[in-house]
Amino acid sequence: MQSPAAHPMNHPAHVPAAAPPVLALEGLRRSFRQGERTLHVLNGASAALWRGQAVALVGPSGSGKSTLLHIAGLLETPDAGRVVVDGRDCTGFGDNERTRVRRRDIGFVYQFHQLLPEFTALENVVIPQLILGRSRRAAEARAKELLGAVGLGGRLDHRPAELSGGEQQRTAICRALANNPSLILADEPTGNLDPDTSELVFQELLALIHDTGVAALIATHNLDLAARMDRVLRMENGLLVETALTRGAAAR
Ligand SMILES: Nc1ncnc2c1ncn2[C@@H]1O[C@H](COP(=O)(O)OP(=O)(O)O)[C@@H](O)[C@H]1O
Ligand SMILES: [Mg+2]
Repeated sequence: MQSPAAHPMNHPAHVPAAAPPVLALEGLRRSFRQGERTLHVLNGASAALWRGQAVALVGPSGSGKSTLLHIAGLLETPDAGRVVVDGRDCTGFGDNERTRVRRRDIGFVYQFHQLLPEFTALENVVIPQLILGRSRRAAEARAKELLGAVGLGGRLDHRPAELSGGEQQRTAICRALANNPSLILADEPTGNLDPDTSELVFQELLALIHDTGVAALIATHNLDLAARMDRVLRMENGLLVETALTRGAAAR
């Protein structure tokens, strides 16, 4: 089989051909029993993402975007197929190994921020680093750097309820990046924000992806945002299809 890296359309010019993808999804299948019926959500979905790429994941509601992100993030297992993170095939991993890869190498951003309500913005970005054994001092320095970069340097001591929706999502993005993951998975990260805030948070997310060199798979309903990412993957009948979108697609 031809390796995904050899596929010219998938492969950005600035990445050496020998670099393994940060994330490879290979032939993923997942179905759910719904009463008498079986719903086939993923039917052999495959894709590869390389460093520094923001990749949009689009498709109608119910097409399987969240299911795919959960499997890519090792939160759920597929019925068949492989998930390879940084060259490691995680298919046979047990719970402890999956958790370790998730904590070290993957950052998640959800539609609703899921910050810890009792803790400040700073602490929400510090805590995942302490879990990995970083010193409090180093963790706070990293958290301040990230929060400062998204304009929250003056909000470090605010709890989530004292932050606006956009500020909560910015904090959640900083939390996802705190441990220098190689992969970001985001499920409608600006879907709960008003259009202006959504635009600003999206710009910051994109800038952070390109600055840090992570690979990111970002589910979105917004085709204009999708068209501004480096690549677009569309869920179609349980398969991932590389798609070309032009700017302004949603307006037509
Ligand atoms: N745990 C589950 N049990 C049964 N059906 C599910 C489960 N998770 C998702 N589904 C179904 O799978 C389909 C795809 O869902 P989802 O991945 O959430 O789509 P999307 O994120 O694109 O809206 C939907 O029809 C949904 O109802
Ligand atoms: Mg979803």
